[in-house]
Amino acid sequence: MTRRSRRDILRATAATAVGVGALSAVGAAAFDGSSSPKDIPTHLRGAAPLPYAEVVSLDLAAGQRADALRAAHRAITPSNQGRTISWLALGESVLPHAVSRPRYLKLMPSFAGDVLDPARSHGDLLLQITGPSATAVQEASEQALRTLKYGQVRWRLAGHRPESRTEDGQGLSRNPFHFTEGYGNPASTAEAVERALVKDGQGEPSWAIGGSYQVIRIIRLATDFWDRDTIDAQERIIGRRRDGRWLDGTPTNEQPVFSADALGKITPLDAHVRRAAPDRRKPPPLVRRGYTYQRGGSDRGLLFSCFQHDLEEGFEAVQGRLEGEAMAKYTLTIGGGYYFIPPPGTTWLETLTSA
Ligand code: HEM
Repeated sequence: MTRRSRRDILRATAATAVGVGALSAVGAAAFDGSSSPKDIPTHLRGAAPLPYAEVVSLDLAAGQRADALRAAHRAITPSNQGRTISWLALGESVLPHAVSRPRYLKLMPSFAGDVLDPARSHGDLLLQITGPSATAVQEASEQALRTLKYGQVRWRLAGHRPESRTEDGQGLSRNPFHFTEGYGNPASTAEAVERALVKDGQGEPSWAIGGSYQVIRIIRLATDFWDRDTIDAQERIIGRRRDGRWLDGTPTNEQPVFSADALGKITPLDAHVRRAAPDRRKPPPLVRRGYTYQRGGSDRGLLFSCFQHDLEEGFEAVQGRLEGEAMAKYTLTIGGGYYFIPPPGTTWLETLTSA
């Protein structure tokens, strides 16, 4: 089957059904952030992300912004009793004009090959709830929405990380293409913080220091077509073995020398990892924390998520290099968005609500 027709099939079956419900009142969310040092923002706590997650994107009515931001902050504040870890992220549309903005925050553009469904993209606010089970996540997100009480759900999507585990400080899982994911991520919290958190001196407004840009991409994966290829062909498309070993025999956690294979005979030039990180001495400055989603039928794939302190050097640079990669014919991005996770504390809230 040609590249074109595979994409057409993905497009033709792209489901758009999204539940839109008004939020109701009262309730107190219980979120646990107590097991890790307090100075690490919730989205970076732990070597591995909790294995279940839901992201909920909300639209706010005009005039609700300040009250809604205060309520959202309450809704995700850790109470030390729950087993879930949650955070709030801001869409560009929620920022008051009078406030200086995180410099890279904008509406997520449509990249080559994307077919973005507005009903599964963007939004004023994003809540991400992670937890040890689907039930815990679902209960916590319903409770958060009751506490929040403002706004309307624009879209929401749940996911999980199959075979979630930690190995040498790295959170690993198995993605829908049967490959181990996570090896390219930092092995230490210090390096994750370095890649993901905005620091002073990076040209960002002071209220944003300590925050992170979060990118979400809802990527449908044509797993049926993928599964018809041989494992060897799949491994050449990714550029690693399914279990993470490099194609040239370099041990998993060491770096291959791609320049020794300039023609791509061993690791093809259009392989995913070769495009994503061609210079092995300079890993892309982002932290990936994706989840598998399954909404029934062929609507399944990767709830891709990454954090970074610079959207252009992080996600956008990698996304640009991935254009034309061999894996593209099996994937279709149908939604997601750009968001900014505010730093711990309330300075950001005071700044945004007093403008
Ligand atoms: C379409 C769905 C995707 C699948 C199935 C996928 C799969 C993988 C796999 C199996 C690896 C190797 C193991 C690892 O390091 O985690 C990997 C690495 C990586 N991917 Fe993806 N990926 C996808 C989308 C993306 C996107 C959208 C980006 C960013 C724009 C991205 C960025 C990266 C990076 C930076 C690495 C690490 C490269 C390295 O350091 O060697 N991936 N991906």
